[in-house]
Amino acid sequence: MMLFKSLAVVSLALLAKQASAAFGITTSSSAYVIDAGSPNSLKFAVNQSNCDITSINYYGSELQYQSTGSHIGSGLGSATVTATQSGDYIKVTCATSSLTHYYVVHNGDPIIHMATYTTAEPSVGELRYIARLNSTLLPNEEPFGVVSNIAGGSAVEGEDVFLVNGQTRSKFYSSERFIDDKIHCVSGSAHRVCMILNQYETSAGGPFMRDINSNNVGSYTGLYWYMNSGHVQTETYRQGLHGPYSLYFSRSGTPSTNIDTSFFADLDIQGYVPTSARGYVSGTASGADSSFKWVIHWYNSAAQYWTYASSSGAFTSPAMKPGTYTMVYYQGEYAVATSSVTVTAGSTTSKSISGSVKTGKTVFKIGDWDGTPAGFSNSANQLRMHPSDSRMSSWNPGTYTVGSSSVSSFPMVLFKAVNSPLTIKFTASSSQTGAATLRIGTTLSFAGGRPQAVINSYSGPVPAAPTNLNSRGVTRGAYRGLGEVYDVSIPAGTIVAGTNTITISVASGSSGDAYLSPNFIFDCVELFQ
Ligand SMILES: *[C@@H]1O[C@H](CO)[C@@H](O)[C@H](O)[C@H]1NC(C)=O
Ligand SMILES: *[C@@H]1O[C@H](CO)[C@@H](O)[C@H](O)[C@H]1NC(C)=O
Repeated sequence: MMLFKSLAVVSLALLAKQASAAFGITTSSSAYVIDAGSPNSLKFAVNQSNCDITSINYYGSELQYQSTGSHIGSGLGSATVTATQSGDYIKVTCATSSLTHYYVVHNGDPIIHMATYTTAEPSVGELRYIARLNSTLLPNEEPFGVVSNIAGGSAVEGEDVFLVNGQTRSKFYSSERFIDDKIHCVSGSAHRVCMILNQYETSAGGPFMRDINSNNVGSYTGLYWYMNSGHVQTETYRQGLHGPYSLYFSRSGTPSTNIDTSFFADLDIQGYVPTSARGYVSGTASGADSSFKWVIHWYNSAAQYWTYASSSGAFTSPAMKPGTYTMVYYQGEYAVATSSVTVTAGSTTSKSISGSVKTGKTVFKIGDWDGTPAGFSNSANQLRMHPSDSRMSSWNPGTYTVGSSSVSSFPMVLFKAVNSPLTIKFTASSSQTGAATLRIGTTLSFAGGRPQAVINSYSGPVPAAPTNLNSRGVTRGAYRGLGEVYDVSIPAGTIVAGTNTITISVASGSSGDAYLSPNFIFDCVELFQ
């Protein structure tokens, strides 16, 4: 009996030891080492004095780039770092005066969950997490591939657009619209690491904002979540809790984005608002052109949310913080209605919205009122390459003739120093010679670029300069800005029966060089009466 009893005690002790060697916190070289207790082992180390992740050992490989850590911004510099375990959860808290960053691990899951609480924007004007990972083990970027792999490249613009094997590349070309960006990954032959995002409520810029997602720079592969940045910033930054966001480690599969982080509610995370303290908006959208996707967007100074409407126009918002919100209805990215709605905790507010694009009797229309340059020349390439790229079609396709030219030959952008003015010819009937409006929709401008139109012998006014967003745009794959729309009132008798000529040029006080000259991006050009 004695023998059996002591054996039992020994094996229990062994079991306990194995268990504690798995999920748990240990300390080594002034770092907290967190073992996630996952079947494919994940262990990572957090520097106790600055919050940097200095090691990520997954499935037997060291994935962390060794020369620089993974961190917020370019590192917090110093922080008060604590680590606690409670039951199946480990929380590492990194506190500074205006920012608290959390790493959270659930026993058994190969996931580093994060959240970042801010009371002020970091002084560098960028609030991002960057995981710097081994580029030999994780060379590939997903979903857009080599467009943002700048390894071995030479700079063609600023310090962020490069030429590699004859192709222009940039970290900016990895971006995806927030509304569609739920996951982006880096991978290699034996590992995949994904950033999973189900929450943009404290970011800025709305559903169509895009920002850097990944960047293989040669020495490491960066995997990012940009929460706030000055990259074509259209809104004031929001502060509060950003996230949760999750770094998911797998051997080859791409994980589902359906990740439950509701346990954050029990972990004393500053600024976390549980679902029970949130409310919803539901209703039906109607009136817009159903050949485009419809988006419903809610925002105020504290939070932003969005959803696609179903094919019948029905929508239900994500779980929102209580408050009064501006509510916008878009066809594509073009706002057709704006309203207001109040959300209260624990209930669903009913609110429908209706609207449509309003112009007049169309003489001609080039493109669509969808708030994007989609369909115009180079619009697909522009998301993933620089305007100077040899794969781009000519920016000077010559005169555009309504009725015979293909919309796909109409340039998506007019650059003062490259392809301005643009000439459009159209034929009017004798019943179309009265007063008319030429509406020029744009999505983004740079350096004060805005359209000035001349219709036959009538020169339209030079519009006031658009708001300066102080950011390069078209050359960094961006097209969404404030979406200025310019109307030119054409006096009766200007348009003649027969052939008419319109020229549109870039008006701006400044000049500038080639693709960095003043420019604007077209959404749609319509002449109506
Ligand atoms: C942790 O951070 C401190 C402060 O930046 C630094 O001096 C130290 O070398 C770091 N330790 C490791 C293991 O990276
Ligand atoms: C990346 O991993 C490979 C394979 O383990 C290793 O040889 C290399 O030194 C690592 N590179 C860096 C920059 O850490």
